[in-house]
Amino acid sequence: MLGYGTVGAAVDRLLVENADDIERATGHRLRVVRALVRDPARSRTFAPADGVLTTDFAAVRDDPRVALVAEVMGGIEPAASHVLELLGAGTPVVTANKQLVARRGSELFAAAAAAGVQLRFEASVCGAIPVIKALRESLVATNVHRVLGIVNGTTNFILTEMEGGASYADALAEAQRLGLAEADPTDDVSGADAAAKMAILATIAFGSRVTLADVDFEGIDDLPAGLPEAARGLELVVRLVGSATLLDGRVDVRVRPALVDRHHPLAAVEGAFNGVMLQGDAIREITLEGPGAGGMETASAVVADLVSIIGTSGTGFLNGDPCWRELERLPPGALPSPFYVHLEVDDRPGVLAEVAQRLSEHGVSVARLTQVPAGEGASIHVVLHEAPQRDVEAALAEIARLPSVYAEPSLLPVISDRGVVELGWA
Ligand code: NAP
Ligand code: HSE
Repeated sequence: MLGYGTVGAAVDRLLVENADDIERATGHRLRVVRALVRDPARSRTFAPADGVLTTDFAAVRDDPRVALVAEVMGGIEPAASHVLELLGAGTPVVTANKQLVARRGSELFAAAAAAGVQLRFEASVCGAIPVIKALRESLVATNVHRVLGIVNGTTNFILTEMEGGASYADALAEAQRLGLAEADPTDDVSGADAAAKMAILATIAFGSRVTLADVDFEGIDDLPAGLPEAARGLELVVRLVGSATLLDGRVDVRVRPALVDRHHPLAAVEGAFNGVMLQGDAIREITLEGPGAGGMETASAVVADLVSIIGTSGTGFLNGDPCWRELERLPPGALPSPFYVHLEVDDRPGVLAEVAQRLSEHGVSVARLTQVPAGEGASIHVVLHEAPQRDVEAALAEIARLPSVYAEPSLLPVISDRGVVELGWA
């Protein structure tokens, strides 16, 4: 292994505790013979066998007993160089590292294909949930055209806690205490962790490379104040949602805080759990839900990949790059969605008419509107019918300049596959 931390130690534990099951399934007994770490003296949650830990990568690379390697060290370098070197030398690799796969995927898959070995990465997306296997194997003959996902456990935990009245800072501290967050939680709360996972899911679903740089993302570190309460009033819940859409042969991948209809399957994904909805021609809709983080949970995906490699090595199965075509990006703002808008306005005659006028000039239609008193003025919550984001943004830019509007409007997508008509709002 490269790394023997939260996930690495759990992989060793699973291999030891389930050695008989794995041997029954594969005919092989898997043992961790070498693990690269920074500090062999550190205490571990599962004790490795004597002589396993090393600080020397060459000791892993050159050990003749090493048939497979699990990269569970994280970061881009030296992880990328080590994985490339191992693949080049004909050693199959399993990785849990989403940033590595999302940023350097093309190089890594090319190296694996050139050497005729497998690079597996189930654990890099949604911890224990076998979503990569579902997309690459179970749905190989299905044209998946949309993936919607809650793919970051930390932010989902924070948002669920905030729904219950906790402050953002307290909820984040608790997520860190529970070991859900990355070592530096910036990637979690900024949406970068979810963006890397959505890049990987989109790449596999559509067979066209999507890198982290292609994903437009926003996190939960700057949510409008009072959003959870406003959402509750509209029978919606706040979630950080990734969406990957294939529309007219073009791809759009984004991560945004969104308001999810409380009857939608993703609204039921609570706490540190993840949920992914796959939509395709033959399957209509499949939703997978489960733990998206945690040592043992993630280790279960790493071990499953190791076992699968043993079962398929030499067959050519999953050796190639998952990308087989190059699709264009959908222009920014072209993706249609229902949207929620929040405005702070003067409470006097004609204000609502001015707002409605600007929306209608851009072809944007109101589905639902509520107004509540707020200080000297009023707070307006609007749910719009589906419209391209650029049209809604153009209308909002004009609305923001109206003298009667005294705070920057906020805009969030609404996730409801039933549409606003079926919600009874039209
Ligand atoms: P971790 O607890 O910090 O463990 C990292 C391990 O890698 C440690 O053993 C560390 O050595 C070793 N390491 C790191 N940098 C090294 C370097 N430059 N040279 C040698 N050894 C190095 O991290 P983790 O939580 O197990 O996460 C590992 C990977 O799994 C990451 O890519 C993460 O994103 C991914 N992942 C984690 C979870 C989760 O819930 N934890 C879920 C899904 C995916 P020392 O022990 O000596 O410090
Ligand atoms: N920090 C990540 C999360 C861990 O909260 O989802 C799993 O990738």
